[in-house]
Amino acid sequence: MKIAFYNTKPYDKIWFEPLSKEHNCEINFIELPCSEQTSSLAKGHDLVCAFVNDQVTSVMIDEFHSLGIKAILLRSAGFNNVDLKAAEGKMPILRVPSYSPESVAEFAATLLLTVNRHTHRAYARTRDFNMNINGFTGRNLFQKTAGIVGTGKIGQAMVNICKGFGMNIIAFDPYPNHDLDVKYVTFEELVTEADVISLHCPLTPETTHMINRDTIALMKKDAYLINTSRGALIDTESLIEALLSGKFSGVGLDVYEEEEGVFFEDKSNDIIEDEQLVRLTSFHNVLITSHMGFFTHEAMREIATTTLENAAAVLKGEPLVNEVKI
Ligand code: NAI
Repeated sequence: MKIAFYNTKPYDKIWFEPLSKEHNCEINFIELPCSEQTSSLAKGHDLVCAFVNDQVTSVMIDEFHSLGIKAILLRSAGFNNVDLKAAEGKMPILRVPSYSPESVAEFAATLLLTVNRHTHRAYARTRDFNMNINGFTGRNLFQKTAGIVGTGKIGQAMVNICKGFGMNIIAFDPYPNHDLDVKYVTFEELVTEADVISLHCPLTPETTHMINRDTIALMKKDAYLINTSRGALIDTESLIEALLSGKFSGVGLDVYEEEEGVFFEDKSNDIIEDEQLVRLTSFHNVLITSHMGFFTHEAMREIATTTLENAAAVLKGEPLVNEVKI
């Protein structure tokens, strides 16, 4: 079985190469992104493996179909980057539904602690022997209110972490899990009452720009906003406007509306054209990371194993337990 593995990063090879032998498959590591310009490279392969930021359009799906591709493997949990309707009846889309919810939740907590206690800035100062602590005042999390948006796997792991800090937890989810020891409130109540708002829901038409001018207006002036889910949950323009007005004690973003072509890449020698991204990085109370919440040894091992198990299931005609259904 041959897999066209698009948008390969050095760390993909480290985790997928050894496992490919065990799973009896040949992986063709392609560094180019999966796009309408590169979809013809899938010729001669059985399966395509796409990256979380590859936009898999109906044009590409038609081309893969004509090339005899049997399935598209997503090495991610999210699947908002694939035209699922176009794939219906042509090829299954398989994902890795859960690889390590703790990896993302722990990263959300990392962003919160860093942006709250300014450790990233303290590191830069002390390396330069500037031992001045002015400007680094943080806030205790103990007895503050954490508002968790989306109480699925990652949201639940975040609830547990916040409880560890002695925080009160409120949550919003249209499908509440009443086994969880949290107080469910409306989304408006959550953004109004929470000291920390952490987003853990998928990107859908309903959740797109759920953080916007109106919902930001409801938030406390000194709130913390953490997004490790998908960039477009936040309307960047409204966020910048709020930050300029002095809103937010801290904002931690592992994801961004316009990641394509910038996130995961080394652009340190290039001119950055995205003015909103440049503006965001200039705020002292904003910390941006490059979509790395998932990036732990445990998660990478699980991603590689499940992706190759998904591949094997397609080729052996076994039930596709990780197929994305519309
Ligand atoms: P999950 O499917 O277990 O949970 C998602 C929860 O969101 C569900 O409980 C669902 O009912 C809820 N939800 C749906 N619509 C909602 C709405 N309108 N408002 C509030 N909640 C809503 O998903 P999981 O595994 O917890 O992942 C959550 C998200 O995290 C993914 O969709 C993905 O976008 C993101 N993610 C980010 C990663 C990173 O590296 N930064 C890695 C993996 C996932």
